[in-house]
Amino acid sequence: MTSSTWSPSSWRERSALQQPEWPDAAAAAAALERLQASPPLVFAGEARDLRENLAKAIDGRAFLLQAGDCVESFNELSTQRIREKLKIMLQMSAVLTYGATLPVVKLGRIAGQFTKPRSEPFERVGDEESPSFRGHMVHDDARTAEARVPDPRRMVEGYNQSAATLNLLRAFTKGGYADLTQVHLWNKDFVASSPEGRRYDILANEIERALAFMAACGIDLTAERRLHEVDVYTSHEGLLLDYEEGLTRRDSLTGDWYDCSAHLLWIGERTRQPDGAHVEFFSGVHNPIGVKIGPTATGAEVVELAERLNPLHVPGRLTFYARMGAEHVRELLPPLLRAIKEEGHPVLWASDPMHGNGIRTAEGVKTRRFDAIMDELEGFFTACWEVGVWPGGVHLEFTGENVTECLGGADDVLEEHLSTRYQTLLDPRLNARQSLDLAFRLAELMRQAPR
Ligand code: PEP
Ligand code: CO
Repeated sequence: MTSSTWSPSSWRERSALQQPEWPDAAAAAAALERLQASPPLVFAGEARDLRENLAKAIDGRAFLLQAGDCVESFNELSTQRIREKLKIMLQMSAVLTYGATLPVVKLGRIAGQFTKPRSEPFERVGDEESPSFRGHMVHDDARTAEARVPDPRRMVEGYNQSAATLNLLRAFTKGGYADLTQVHLWNKDFVASSPEGRRYDILANEIERALAFMAACGIDLTAERRLHEVDVYTSHEGLLLDYEEGLTRRDSLTGDWYDCSAHLLWIGERTRQPDGAHVEFFSGVHNPIGVKIGPTATGAEVVELAERLNPLHVPGRLTFYARMGAEHVRELLPPLLRAIKEEGHPVLWASDPMHGNGIRTAEGVKTRRFDAIMDELEGFFTACWEVGVWPGGVHLEFTGENVTECLGGADDVLEEHLSTRYQTLLDPRLNARQSLDLAFRLAELMRQAPR
């Protein structure tokens, strides 16, 4: 699928939106060289496995659960935080797998999610104005002009933190922690005593009984690898093209190019111009690719993106995340689904119910309502059923911590609670209880699907 004019640096001839201007060109070149000389973070074969799993999610044989932080922080690299995120991912995926009897493809928004596109070049807090925060791989988050000067050495630091994160994830997912016999242990202290936690415990009991039943039938559960380890893949927004170019390698088996910074990379709503630098770059690497599709997208645009990014119609190569906003999804999504269906493109349609539903409180705090998030999800399912397309996944911003950033949910976070544990660097995330609550409701929605 790579065109003859493509190379890892051919994006440089296109207009590249949302890129930092590194003040020191020599330092930027040195950082790129360091990345190019570093080992890949993921392997081409793993990216191909993910692609095959995503292909199953296109036609209703699997469901994609993609979730993690809005943006990871250089100041928050800890075993505990990574474990908490993995725990909630495993819990949600147990709920979905058991509730909807479908395999769940687990894809973290983790180990590389260090950059953010911004709608405004400057941000104001009180009387202070500073360049908008674009993620720790670009600059520091302190609200001063000095802190916001882009520093390309941060790309190397981001690479190192991604490597450490991924190393721990691999250990947790293959080393016994993700063993299905541990299904009760994933219920966390502050969740376990809540209604969702108790509902989860009942489900965990059922899973244990099912396992005991199989063992009693003579099935050797110890020999079944899939009960004892899981595959958790990684993803981030492929926004900072210097970094992505630096980690792009030719696969020795196939000779194809892969962006080895993560298994899946997505193109954001602000950088998906079909003739822009991001689409150019990702058209040439063979990873599974995602694209955010917002309310202004037209049928012709999404078809053009599918043509540019997946001309050979490889199933699992391309995922579109609809992020329309709860009020618009029922009306705006069906024409896009139809346009892609009519062209016969194998696209996995997933819902990002977060990014179209941001609001600000009277005090100016950025938040999202749990009810709006659920409403967009329901609208997404309705739109897909109407057109006869399988609603194949969700893309969420969550955290394993007990934060108060999104309003409502069974947890009933009220406006006056927002300030108690509002810890995100940027967008408000679902907390652990809200995430689990969402998983139960999602499983119910999936059970209603006309097969
Ligand atoms: C995001 O996923 O954090 C994001 C910025 O999304 P979008 O490109 O859809 O606005
Ligand atoms: Co976000």
